[in-house]
Amino acid sequence: MFPKIDSAMLSRIGNFLDSTFEEWGKEKLENYNTLMAYYKCAMMEIETKFNVLNEEFSLQFDRNPINSIKTRLKSYESIKEKLKRMDKPFGAESIEENLSDVAGVRVVCSFPKDVYELAEALLKQDDIKLIEKKDYIANPKPNGYRSLHLIVAVPIFLAKEKRYMKVEIQLRTIAMDFWASLEHQLRYKKDTEFTEEMAQELLDCATLSAKLDEKMDKLRETVHK
Ligand code: GTP
Ligand code: MG
Repeated sequence: MFPKIDSAMLSRIGNFLDSTFEEWGKEKLENYNTLMAYYKCAMMEIETKFNVLNEEFSLQFDRNPINSIKTRLKSYESIKEKLKRMDKPFGAESIEENLSDVAGVRVVCSFPKDVYELAEALLKQDDIKLIEKKDYIANPKPNGYRSLHLIVAVPIFLAKEKRYMKVEIQLRTIAMDFWASLEHQLRYKKDTEFTEEMAQELLDCATLSAKLDEKMDKLRETVHK
């Protein structure tokens, strides 16, 4: 009844499956790479917007509110690990649907007032859509972490379409950035245990850094009066 499967036929079936899976994998990889390129463009758009605002402030008030801007694209490993943690499948569609921090822009400002002014100036722009805002400056995390987080959608203009992409923006002062990078280093140090005392010390440092920001902001006001 059934055709006899000989080794030649088995090898033909094997080849067919190999090429089908290769094509399938190639297409998935292409979709992934394209999506990452889009995220990179969106990140560049946001970085440019902040650079423009910095220029404008410096023309108007003769000072630069932005100390530095850092951008980062989430790595393949981190994306895979986060989706797995969320119990979501890996793929371009799932990435866009479930992650909002693939493209990240960190803006480090001199003063807390600059953080809010820059955020407001960005959100006023008519091509920016605000998706989420978390004010960890007004409401710091229990460990002392402070920053203003925005998730926005920004359009990128491709040859045939306009596409909105999500970008995570973290705005913070130099003092907040200093604290966050120290905390990150201590928490993820492989050879030392993160103790309760260390957590308390960090929280004390966060309080000190918030006081420092407040003092600096007052000083800035006095100088600019
Ligand atoms: P994620 O799953 O980490 O994205 O958390 P989330 O979606 O609740 O976002 P959240 O706004 O709390 O944090 C996003 C990012 O802010 C992190 O990836 C860090 O870069 C930064 N962040 C948040 N909390 C802390 C913190 O306690 N310490 C440090 N150093 N960074 C933090
Ligand atoms: Mg996040």
